[in-house]
Formats: sequence, structure tokens, C-alpha cells
Amino acid sequence: MNGTDVQTIDVALGARRYPVWIGRGLLDDRARWRARLRGRHGLVISNTTVAPLYLDRVAQGLDGLHWSSFLLDDGEAHKNFANVGRALEALATLGATRDACVIALGGGVVGDLAGFAAACWMRGIDFIQMPTTLLAMVDSSVGGKTGVNLPAGKNLVGAFHQPRAVIADIDTLATLPDREYRAGLAEVVKGAAIGDAVFFGWLEAHAEALARRDTATLVEAIARKVRYKAGVVARDETEQGERALLNLGHTFGHALETAGHYTALLHGEAVAIGMVLAARLSERLGMSDAADTARLQRLLERLGLPVALPPDMVPERLLELMRLDKKNTAGTLRLILWRGIGKAEIVAGTDESAVLGTLAEAIFGEPFLRSSMP
Ligand code: NAD
Ligand code: GLY
Repeated sequence: MNGTDVQTIDVALGARRYPVWIGRGLLDDRARWRARLRGRHGLVISNTTVAPLYLDRVAQGLDGLHWSSFLLDDGEAHKNFANVGRALEALATLGATRDACVIALGGGVVGDLAGFAAACWMRGIDFIQMPTTLLAMVDSSVGGKTGVNLPAGKNLVGAFHQPRAVIADIDTLATLPDREYRAGLAEVVKGAAIGDAVFFGWLEAHAEALARRDTATLVEAIARKVRYKAGVVARDETEQGERALLNLGHTFGHALETAGHYTALLHGEAVAIGMVLAARLSERLGMSDAADTARLQRLLERLGLPVALPPDMVPERLLELMRLDKKNTAGTLRLILWRGIGKAEIVAGTDESAVLGTLAEAIFGEPFLRSSMP
């Protein structure tokens, strides 16, 4: 594969549409992405880890514009309102007009915050996603969910605001730490597990190539996941129904992240464990087979992902945290459950004793979640 082999996926939302470009060398393919900027002002939002690596290359594409950059400190804790305020101040200082463009250069933290700032400035200006983590390439940069965290919880404030383009230059993954890379693979598996059994089989056949970051395999995996997500978003942009399926494993996962104070697990790792728990619960409720759970767990393990819970988890505490999930309606758990490979379902009013039983079994040593993986 070389710089000219670029996969293009269109996200089509009625009359609106935008391209997701996936391939090598795309940050340097300036003519391609510069054509998506309409005005004279640009604000690049990045962070203190990514900017030293890639900002120069983006800057070379901004010749002739009035532009500046705003850098976040690294980490989820900085995806907050105070930094949205600072980003908006940077737009004000730039004199950004309605046709200005925000460029998000980084992982999901940067992309979510930058998109939200773009949604707020003058009630909505353009933004371009330049994702530099695998998770951001396959998930957060596509579909227009933007927002920030509050002390009360993750992603509680935000807006649906679609980007003008997504530029996924996979060369940027060369500097991404292994653990972050694997966390991104969990989101790839998630798409296949929810809605594409053929893709799931393809992942099983290509697990080793993906684990060693083989370029052509990686581009294909990203493209397949993005194509799947683009279809879901096209049918249900604002999550009135089907889009909620993309949260398979997330209710368990968010509870694990919160219980671990956001330091024990990366988001993708929590989703990997959460998917296995959702599969186990579905089995317990008679919705799916043990053989499918075993396939899911095996694939995640082959990709180097954890499937066992971290130490010191308490079932009742996890259930309590699950009750706070955004998908719930008053008084009832609303979970994404599983009918087996490629088939997920939204289930309201899930029996809490079954959830508790699944958690207890996982924590107190039933064999299914015992694993040699980290
Ligand atoms: P992240 O943005 O924190 O990036 C992970 C780490 O990798 C950071 O330390 C970052 O500085 C570093 N990094 C990024 N690119 C790098 C590169 N090329 N080389 C070296 N280091 C690099 O985390 P993430 O996993 O990308 O995103 C998680 C965020 O995404 C969460 O806030 C989550 O809520 C959000 N999210 C949003 C959506 C959505 O639809 N909007 C979907 C999934 C997740
Ligand atoms: N990551 C879930 C969504 O985009 O809907």
C-alpha cells in the first residue's frame, strides 16, 4: 500500500454528506483536505502530546489563512467546559467569522471537545476531524457526537454536529502506544459483533495481522468499521433508536471505568470486558449461545484485549453505577444485549438480579472470564 491507496467512505445524512478518507500520508495530501475549508480562518485544536508530532504537517496546509492553534493538556480530565471556553476565546482572538473552520488533530478527547466548540461558535461553524488514534478513526470522529464531561459524569453535555470531512492518516498510528492501539481494536470488534457477522469472521481470519498492525489489513478494518457506523448514523443520526446499539458493552464498561476511577482501564479495554459481560448476560437470559460468547472472548484475547475484570470490583457497586447510564429511562435499566455474532438488541427493563448474577459470576471466579491476558 502507498499514499495513493486511499479508501473513501461517504457519510450521507439526507442532503448533507461528508467523506471519511482512510490511508497513508493523508496529512501531507493538503490539496485534498484544504478544499474542504471554506473561509479564511482556521483554529487547530490538538493536545500537548500530538501537536509536537503532527501540527507542523497540518500547518503547511494552512498557508494563506489566518490561523492559530489551541492545545489541551493530555488526558480525559481536560475534556471539560473550561477548555471549551478557552477554545472559544481562541476563536474570538482569531476574529473567526461564520465560515471559519476548526480542525481537530488528535484522539477522541480532542475531537469531542473541538467539535463541541465548533458547534457553539456562532451557533455552529465547520470542523474537520483529523483523528490520530485508532479509536478516533473507527468511532469518535465519525457520526457527529461532540461534547465534554462534567464532574457529574462523562459526556453529559454535547451536541450533534457533523464534521466537513474526516482525514484518517494511518501513518500517525506509528507513534500510538500499543495499549491505545489495542483499545481501538475493541471498537472495531464492537461494530462487527453488533451488526456484521461477515466482518466478524474476517476479523477472526485477520486477527494476527491486525495485532501486528499490518497496513493493508488495518486500512481494510478501519474502512469496514467506518462503513458500518456510517450506515447506522445515516439511518439514525440523533440516536432515536438503532444508533443506541453502538453502545454494546458500554453500560458495563462505563461502570468499570468509573469504579476504576478512570485509571484502571482505557475506554476500549472497558468496552472489551463490557461486551463479554453483555454476551454472558444475554446467555443467562436465553438470548444467545455460549459458543458465540466464546468466539467473542477468543477474538478479543487474540487482539491483546483484556476480558477479565480488574481486581476489587464489587457487583452491587457496579450495578449502582449502571443505573446512572444515559440510556436508561426512569427506574429501568436499558441495555444493549446480544443475539449472537452480528445481532444486538436494545432491551428495556432488564432483570437486575440477572445483571447482578452475571457480575458476581465474573468477579467470584467462574471460569468464563478467567483469562491469562493482561
Ligand atoms: P485520547 O484522545 O485520550 O487519546 C489517547 C492517548 O493517545 C492520549 O494520551 C493522546 O495524547 C495519545 N495520542 C493520540 N494520538 C496519538 C499519536 N498518533 N501518537 C501518540 N500518542 C497519541 O483517547 P481516545 O481513545 O482517542 O478517545 C477517547 C475519547 O473519545 C473519550 O473521551 C470518549 O468519550 C470519546 N469517544 C467519543 C465518541 C463519539 O462518538 N464522539 C465515541 C467513542 C469515544
Ligand atoms: N460511539 C457511539 C456513537 O457514535 O453513537
